[in-house]
Formats: sequence, structure tokens, C-alpha cells
Amino acid sequence: MTVSVSSSAQEQQFLQAFQQALESQSFDRMILSQYQGELEQLEKMTFRVVMLQGQPVLSCLYRHKTQDVTKNYSLDTALDTVTALLAQCKQANLMTTEQELQLKKNKKKAMLTQSKNKTVTKAVEQQGHDRVKQRFVDQDSYFLQPLGITDAKAHIIPSMARALSHIQLPEQLRVVDFGSGKGYLTFALYDYLLKQDLNPFVTGVELNSKMVEFCQEVANKSDFQQLDFFQGDVRTYQPERLDVMIALHACDVATDFAIHTGIRLNAEMIMCAPCCHKELRPQLKAPLVLQPMLQFGIHAGQQAEMLTDTIRALLLKAYGYETKVFEFVALEHTSKNKMILATKRKDYQAPDVAVLAQIQALKEMEMKMPSLRITHGTWEELQHAAKMIREQVFIQEQNIAAEDEWDEQDEIAVHFVVYEQDQAIATARLLQNHSIGRVAVLKSHRGLGVGKVLMQAVIAYAQQQQRPFLVLSSQVHAQAFYQALGFMQEGEEYLDCGIPHIHMRLSSIKKP
Ligand SMILES: C[S@@+](CC[C@H](N)C(=O)[O-])C[C@H]1O[C@@H](n2cnc3c(N)ncnc32)[C@H](O)[C@@H]1O
Repeated sequence: MTVSVSSSAQEQQFLQAFQQALESQSFDRMILSQYQGELEQLEKMTFRVVMLQGQPVLSCLYRHKTQDVTKNYSLDTALDTVTALLAQCKQANLMTTEQELQLKKNKKKAMLTQSKNKTVTKAVEQQGHDRVKQRFVDQDSYFLQPLGITDAKAHIIPSMARALSHIQLPEQLRVVDFGSGKGYLTFALYDYLLKQDLNPFVTGVELNSKMVEFCQEVANKSDFQQLDFFQGDVRTYQPERLDVMIALHACDVATDFAIHTGIRLNAEMIMCAPCCHKELRPQLKAPLVLQPMLQFGIHAGQQAEMLTDTIRALLLKAYGYETKVFEFVALEHTSKNKMILATKRKDYQAPDVAVLAQIQALKEMEMKMPSLRITHGTWEELQHAAKMIREQVFIQEQNIAAEDEWDEQDEIAVHFVVYEQDQAIATARLLQNHSIGRVAVLKSHRGLGVGKVLMQAVIAYAQQQQRPFLVLSSQVHAQAFYQALGFMQEGEEYLDCGIPHIHMRLSSIKKP
């Protein structure tokens, strides 16, 4: 419907609609553009209602050529402010939950166009009973256009905003988004944190180099100076500090490596929305009573998903995190709508052994995970078991010469042996110079996480002994395994007994 009458009557009608929308709480936003006033740099103004200290206010983002300025007005004086500004603009657009009004002015006349609003989004939160709307992503931000950001992604921010308000924030907030993809959340979050004056340094970590290039370009064009993108596997990105760790729908075990990095670096907040749960599914061994249920593929998938996410949540709990698991968005946006949100407890001192035992019990019941016992001791105490494993793994399987395998270091090293019931299945040794070596798992027990349990025991021992660091020489094929435990590559590859190796170091082994 288009009406054309005198300029002032049209303006009056527009202002009345604005005031009415505020009063009936149907106001969504308003944009005044083609500014003709005295402020040379001013391009347009975007108005929204936001909550400040529990009170709704009219917030205006003044967009200038080189900077944005936000001013807030009480709702009582909003009409006066808008009336004065509207008189200086050639175009105005009002969006309410029901309609869109567009006012266009030229020298001769004004046009007021009214249409039904189909674009008002649901990415707004209800504030108690007053239904005043608050947006977490500014709909006019430059990055929305190239990214094509959706409300489903912006939905994550309210949950994070609530969690952030409960943690102690440092002067610079270091955030890493693992598996950042096209950067939807990375950008939205950076924008949000910047507007909250939290001095964010945000890094998106992504395997796909094209996406990394694209996102970096958009970040540069948006003048987001503290937002960058790292191309590589989540395992290879090892920051020194991390306050907020995010992994949104990162594939396969990328979520788990990200959680590990978050826990290891004592992140204040860890948030992930898991995606695939393929890792545990082949390892599921249903207890007899559950077999009728899990014979159906869909149920086995759901069981693997629940087990995976339960273990993730329990691990976070065990390592001192207040952990919640919930649905963050309606199913119509994405079926992958589960979020694990964890914030570090201030009173955390040591891993909760009761929770770790719960995880172990779950693994024993639901997976082909053996029940393990780990012991450490001298060569005299453990040589029988350690020799048997190393003989099988290094001498027989890898054809390492016996004179290279056995050396005088065994006498002075601390040895570790993993037992399944009474059978020794894995071993490692720790030298006085903090070097871990001779890590071996029997072939029959590989792929079940035994090596990881063994290495965690060695690291825990080193922590107790207050060793300053740990080093090891990894066979190149096992590099990713050690990276996931926090070890970083040092120097170039080299050959040892004809097998390619690489030096690796765990610099920080203070208690998690
Ligand atoms: C489903 S997308 C999610 C992207 C983004 N977080 C989002 O929600 O819009 C998963 C992304 O994780 C990346 N990815 C998967 N495994 C990764 C790994 N090991 N290291 C880094 N990125 C990984 C993929 O390339 C992909 O872009």
C-alpha cells in the first residue's frame, strides 16, 4: 500500500507508528539514512531497544564513515530525539513485529510505504515478562553480508553471554574457535565481545585453507584487528593462553582435541556443540541386556552419541568445570543442537577421582575398553613385564636390534607398566633428563586408548615429581597422538634405527 501526501503528514504518521511500536513492544528496529544534517561523516543511524541495568532503553548506533558510536536514550525522550533526527534524513525504515514502514522524502513530496514484515527474526530473547527485545548480533554489521550469517548461529551467543557474566574476565580475552569453518560464530562472537568492551583476541582454527583466506579477508575488511584465522589441524594449534574455548560442530574427534586443549590451558570457559560421534560407535559392545535395543542402527548411533557426550561432560567435571548439557536452539534450525557448556570452578585443586572412576566404569560397560591398572617402579621391579612387551613390539615387530633396544638407562629410569587384570599390555620409561621413551602397547591392545592412559599416567607422575618439562622422540606416525597430549614438535625429522622420528616437548606440565 503506497500513500503520497505532504511531507510533514507522512513524517507524523511514521513517528506515530514508531511511538506506538515502542509502547506495544512490537518495535524491532529502525534505520534513518541519507542524513542531510551538519555532521559530515554520519551515514546512518540504527535504533533498537536493549536492556540496560534491567531497564529498556532506545539504543542508537551512529554509523560514520570511519567509526561507529552508540548512544542510549530513555524511552521517555526517544520520540523527541527521533523527531529531530528524522527531519534531517531523506529515508527512514521502521520494522515492527507486524509491519515494515518506509518513508522516502524528496524536495516535492514524501512517500510512505507499508508492508507486512516477514523478516523479523526469532534471534531475540524474551526478557522476563516484558518482552523487550535484545539482539546479540548487530544486523547491520558488515560481516553479515559476505558470511550470510544465520540466526541459528547467533543463538549461541546468549548462552555464552550468560556464562561469561559468571566468570572472572581478564583484561584481554583470548578466545579460540576450533573448526571455525566459514566463521559464522567466530565473527558474531568477536563483534559481540568487542561491543561489550572485553578487548577480545579471537582466533579461528580451520583445516580448509580457502575458508581461512576468505574469513581473514572479511576480518580485514571489517577492520576487526584482533580477529585472525589459523590454517591447520586443531591438534597443531597450541596457544600459550586460552580463556574461552569454542568448538561448534567441529568434525569427528576435533571436538575432543579442542576440549583437551581447553582443559590443559585452564580455559575459564569451554563451549562445544558436538557434531559427529563416529569414534565410539565401532567400539561399542552392548551389555547383553541392551543388545535388543542396540540391534537397530539408529539406536546404536544415539547410544554412541550419548556416551560420547557424557564422557566429554564428565571429563570436564572431573577437571574442575561446572558443566551443563542442554539444547541451545530449536530443532528447526539444526538437529545438532546439543551444547556442552563448562565454566572453571574457582575452588578446583585436583582431578575428581570419583568422576574419573565413573568414566572408566562407563567405558568398561559400554565399550571394548579393558579394565586397566597402571604401576610404576624400578627396572628391578618391573623388568620382567617391560622386557616382554618391548621384546614383542620393538625387536620382533619393528626389527630393532637387541643391542639398540637394551641400554644402561633402564637401570636408572622410572618404568611404567599397564596391566589388564594380570596381563602386562603396555610400558614406557621416564629418564632422569625428563625424556620419555620405549613407549609400547601390545598389538592385541592397540586402538583402545591404552597408550593414552599410559602417557597420562607418566605425565601425572611428572607433575607430582615437579619435573619442569617432558621430552620424547616420537616415531613420525605417532606425532598426532603426542600432540593431542600437549606435546609440541621441535626441529626437523630424523632417522633412528631407520625409522623417521621427531623431537617433541611438553613445556608446561603444571597441574591442570
Ligand atoms: C561442520 S563445520 C562447522 C563450522 C563452524 N564451526 C560452524 O558451526 O559454522 C566443521 C568445520 O571443522 C573443520 N574441521 C574438521 N576437523 C578439523 C580439524 N581436525 N582441525 C581443524 N578444523 C577441522 C572443517 O573443515 C569444517 O570447516
